[in-house]
Amino acid sequence: MLKGVILAGGLGTRLYPLTKVTSKHLLPVGNEPMIFHSVKQLTTAGITDILIVTNPEYVGDFVSALGSGKDFGCEFTYRVQEEAKGVAHALALAEGFAAGHKIVVLLGDNIFETPIHPAVSDYQAQQTGARVMLKQVNDPERYGVATLNGNHIVAIEEKPKHPKSDYAVVGAYFYDASVFDIIRTVEPSARGEYEITAVNNAYIHRGELAYSFVHGKWVDAGTFDSLTEAHQILLNSLDWQ
Ligand code: G1P
Repeated sequence: MLKGVILAGGLGTRLYPLTKVTSKHLLPVGNEPMIFHSVKQLTTAGITDILIVTNPEYVGDFVSALGSGKDFGCEFTYRVQEEAKGVAHALALAEGFAAGHKIVVLLGDNIFETPIHPAVSDYQAQQTGARVMLKQVNDPERYGVATLNGNHIVAIEEKPKHPKSDYAVVGAYFYDASVFDIIRTVEPSARGEYEITAVNNAYIHRGELAYSFVHGKWVDAGTFDSLTEAHQILLNSLDWQ
């Protein structure tokens, strides 16, 4: 059984003053609060046991917006990330929840035009290791960037000044239970964060990182421009949501 984790921390400073009173992940996108999209991505893929990780400032707002999960046909668990120390640091809080199960991890500000269900199926068919999702973009320096060799990812660089490809590693990750041991070995990056890219590179070194492509549009809705784009993407793909 796969469990779901939605990482929805951070103060959304780039979207201030929209984020003056609540989380970026609760701002309207399409017809709903942004985080509903991640929830529906998971439930559409048959994942109904979902952990929400957020920061202390906004946890009450998430509980008000999402409730128990009854309205979505799922069950929510909530955890509070006291310090914003990066994606891998937030994911470490999911260890007890995962309880040895494989997990699908979504960054709550990543919006997809189409369901990620096919990648979930790919991962379910995968015996061991991890999987990431890739999308060709015009501005790879903003993201984790994968270097491919045939069917393999040989390295991922986090926000490189001179990207070696235009394949962004998007905020949808698939991990087995060993991810938590890997996180314990990660050192903070130059920006002081425990990077999810370091975790993915550890899987590459084990020869255990597969990938799927994103179909359709994808956006990381952390800025005003990308929030507008996210809005348009969701309004044009309401059929499956
Ligand atoms: C994070 C990851 C990055 C990934 C991006 C996708 O970046 O570190 O590898 O490409 O999410 O949205 P952040 O947005 O936390 O800077």
